[in-house]
Order: sequence, then structure tokens, then C-alpha cells
Amino acid sequence: MTAKTLESLLSEGVQGRAVLVRSDLNVPLADGAVTDDGRIRASLPVLEKLARSGARVLVTAHLGRPKGEPVPEFSLSPVAARMQELSSAPVKRAEDLTGESARSAVAELAEGEILLLENVRFDPRETSKDAAERGALAQELAALTGQSGAYVNDAFGAVHRAHASVADIASQLPAYQGDLVASELQVLKRLTESAERPYTVVLGGSKVSDKLAVIENLLPKADALLIGGGMVFTFLKAQGYGIGGSLVENDELETVKGFLEQAQQKDCRIVLPTDVVMAASFAANAEHEILPVDSLETGAHGADALGLDIGPASAEAFAAEVAASRTVFWNGPMGVFEMEAFSKGTAALAEALTQSEAFTVVGGGDSAAAVRALGFDESGFGHISTGGGASLEYLEGKTLPGIQALGA
Ligand code: 3PG
Ligand code: MG
Repeated sequence: MTAKTLESLLSEGVQGRAVLVRSDLNVPLADGAVTDDGRIRASLPVLEKLARSGARVLVTAHLGRPKGEPVPEFSLSPVAARMQELSSAPVKRAEDLTGESARSAVAELAEGEILLLENVRFDPRETSKDAAERGALAQELAALTGQSGAYVNDAFGAVHRAHASVADIASQLPAYQGDLVASELQVLKRLTESAERPYTVVLGGSKVSDKLAVIENLLPKADALLIGGGMVFTFLKAQGYGIGGSLVENDELETVKGFLEQAQQKDCRIVLPTDVVMAASFAANAEHEILPVDSLETGAHGADALGLDIGPASAEAFAAEVAASRTVFWNGPMGVFEMEAFSKGTAALAEALTQSEAFTVVGGGDSAAAVRALGFDESGFGHISTGGGASLEYLEGKTLPGIQALGA
């Protein structure tokens, strides 16, 4: 069975119908304002398409990880404000999810208008392990649409979550796949089924444990796996190097040794940095120096130093790997890119991707935000995914509950 497309919903006709769309509007905020609106811009086309066709568009989304109760810092209100600035259709906002405010806003919502409901994770049933609880919330959400409602899942970044608004709701209303989900899946399918070689995967970010399954799954598929970011120190320690006070997951040392061995058998090169930026402390203005990986503890701060970025020789080597590739998938920053002094590895890699003629995919909210924060033009990349965990789980070969629920 394949999922019904947004096109098929539009051809049925949506004039006057209330259509509930699940979007991923989980964006970074600072001081109550959106600092990277990538996911909002990626979500608007489907909402505007429905609005233009005369639907009354209800949007449900999450922000952050509130623990099942309303907390002002996770309100979607700043997101609604940014949507209003960007949207061609009027954007209204409800102060709750399915309560008084939402019901009266739905009643007043005109054709062609968009209504953003408050953070769906303010309700504990959204993420409940109990299917009956999730089902009850899904029913309440569906009831908001009244007669002839429909549901569209366009929240690619959240399709790996078995949550009420992502999965359960698809059995309460006629359900359709949004265009963003469709295009993201198309890209990932190309990576898993028909990646042109050489195929290079670049992984960064802080935790190896988050990436274990994806490394395992990609070793037989990729030609080279470049490792940067905080997770690199677990690899370096597994090889017997001193790493000072850098981030390490001692529980994963054996697994990582296993990967290094497997890589040889699977004909996939695991490429690690040869130099690292070692800092006195985790601070934007920390003293720092570049050291080769076999001498990370020999600098000014000895064994107390922290590795916060890959060094320039490594960045150059990674860039050369990218330049020689036909397909590149990148997930996770190479260093603490939020701090200027430790952003150079990530910037050099992003630059290499934009220079490359390969099909390049940037996966993950953090990497996508990094690319934009460092001032790169999005058009320099083949595809910037709105999904971090979701794209990794797809590449791991896992079933994604939000996709499965649509019958795809
Ligand atoms: C994300 O930011 O990766 C998605 O919005 C999913 O959020 P979650 O990891 O809190 O489920
Ligand atoms: Mg996340």
C-alpha cells in the first residue's frame, strides 16, 4: 500500500473543509524569538497550498520536550509570529490544543486561513506509551475538524516518533502524506538504493551512542565514513590515544573497536581526524591550540585540555574526501560551531560540500542550522533535510511510525 498524496486530497476538493496538518515546527529559539526558521519555511508550502485551495487549515506541532504540561518557554507563540511574517495566508493562533481557545478559534476560522494550535507536547497523551491514551488525544484532535475533516502528515522531522499527532491520528481521519515528507523520502531513498559512488558519509555531533545503529548500517554501504565532532574522542581512545578531558563514552569503546575492525572487512574506510583543536575550557574565549592526535595531552593544558573542533589538517583531508565523492551525506557538526573559535572544522566541511559536484545531503536540525548560521547559501547543497533523527532512522533501515501509519 502506498500513502495517499496531498495532490489526491486537493483533487477530492478541500474547499471549506477543516484539514489538520502535523508539521515539524521544532525550531531553535533565543530570547523568545526564532533563531533558525528553516523548518517553518519548509512547512509553509503545504499549508499555503491547502489555504489557497480554500481549506481551513489547522496545524499541530511540538516545540522542545516539555514534560506533558504547559510551560511558557515552550509555547509556539514565537513560531506563530514568524509564520505570520512568512505566510501568504493569514495565520491565527490558539492558546491551547483542543480546549476552549482551540475550539472557538476553529469555529471562527475562515476558508484560506491557517490556525496554529498550541504545543501538542503540553498534553501528556501525545507521547504516552499507552496506545489508549494516545488514541484518546488523536480522537480529540480529529474532532476539531468536524464533518469531512482530513489529516496531512508533513512533519518529516518527527515521523520517527510513535506519537498521537504523528501516528495514531492517521486511523481517525482520512490521512495523506504532505509534500515535504514525500520529497524527503525521495532523497533518502536515492541514498539507500542508488547512491552514486564513491559514497561518503560524514558523521559528527557529540554522542557515538546516538549513531551506533547508523554506523553499523552504513559500513557495508558507504565507501568512506568520516568522523568528527565530540564522538571522535571515543574512536581515538579506542585506538589507544590520550584524549585529555574531551568528551568520551567509555561504554562504547568496545563497540567502536568493533567498527574499526568491521570497516576493514567491509571495505569502508573510517577516516578520523589527524589533528584537533584542544582548549583550556568549554568557553567561547578559551585559550586553544592545534595538536596532532598522538599528542593531545602534551599542550599547555596537559591532560585537562578539551577537544572542541577538528584541526585544519583534518578539515583539509575531509574536504579532499568530499571532493573525490559522487554522493555525500552529512549529519552532525565537526566541532562546537556555535563558538567562533571552534567553528572552523564545520565551516570547512560545509564549504567543501558546496564546492563539490557530488549529490550532497545535509541531514539533521543541528547540521542544517549550522550551515545557515555559518552563512552558507542553502542552494549550494543538493538537499538540506529537516529531519535529524528521522533521516538517521530511515538510513538505519528502521520503520518510521509516522510513515507506516499513512500506509506507505
Ligand atoms: C527534532 O528536532 O529532531 C524533531 O522535531 C523531533 O524532536 P524530538 O527529538 O524531540 O522528538
Ligand atoms: Mg532532535
